[in-house]
Amino acid sequence: MQKGPLLYTGKAKNVFGTDTPEVLWVEYTNQATALNGKRKEQIANKGQLNSAISDLLFKYLTKQGIVNHYLEQLSPTVQLVKQVKILPIEVVVRNYAAGHFVTKYNAPKMKHLVPNVHEFYFKDDALDDPFMNDEQITALEIATEAELVTLRGQADIVNVLLSNVFKQIGITLIDFKLEFGYTTDHQLILADELSPDNMRLIDDATGHSLDKDVFRNNLGDVTVGYQTVLDRLTTLFTEK
Ligand code: C5P
Repeated sequence: MQKGPLLYTGKAKNVFGTDTPEVLWVEYTNQATALNGKRKEQIANKGQLNSAISDLLFKYLTKQGIVNHYLEQLSPTVQLVKQVKILPIEVVVRNYAAGHFVTKYNAPKMKHLVPNVHEFYFKDDALDDPFMNDEQITALEIATEAELVTLRGQADIVNVLLSNVFKQIGITLIDFKLEFGYTTDHQLILADELSPDNMRLIDDATGHSLDKDVFRNNLGDVTVGYQTVLDRLTTLFTEK
């Protein structure tokens, strides 16, 4: 497999083409961002940890029948994925109140949200990824009603599967963000990454964050929690 030209530079990943049609080369970087990219830092080992965690979680979801873009890990920071055209919508699912749900609505921190909350954000850096409701999305033809039904449904299944995985290793899945994209044969599938950069995870024993909140809130070395997540997932999936 040969690496091709740089196609896209993300906040924590760079995406390249390859010599194989419809296969992309994704490099996880050590960059951490907060405030939608306005604060940036390099954090040693973060790329490797996210890549390893994402590898385990995508493989698990694949085994559970969730069709997704993930193909394989090539090196500690390089993965191959199926090429998709990303739908410009971030799907957030919240099980407990945290982050912007607390700051926007003055919700009690960690309130159990019943039913759990789905939110859509328009992926647009210049606009700071604004929240959009269903009508705003469909009226602006960013996605159809049918696509939103698929996104909610897929996100719900992923939520049940991942919440259950984390529960088994003493971690609560507070909230997370997913992205989806279209394959060349027009299948809408799960894409992007599954890592503590994109989900909030709380250690049940200590109540400590094991995710990017440690960086966002300047609480110390963010990779300590990421390593804990990776170690526990590795143990869980090795035992199975
Ligand atoms: O910041 P907020 O509370 O809206 O984030 C909800 C969840 O979505 C968090 O797990 C956060 O890490 C994730 N998220 C993300 N990328 C964004 C916005 C939120 O991964 N651009």
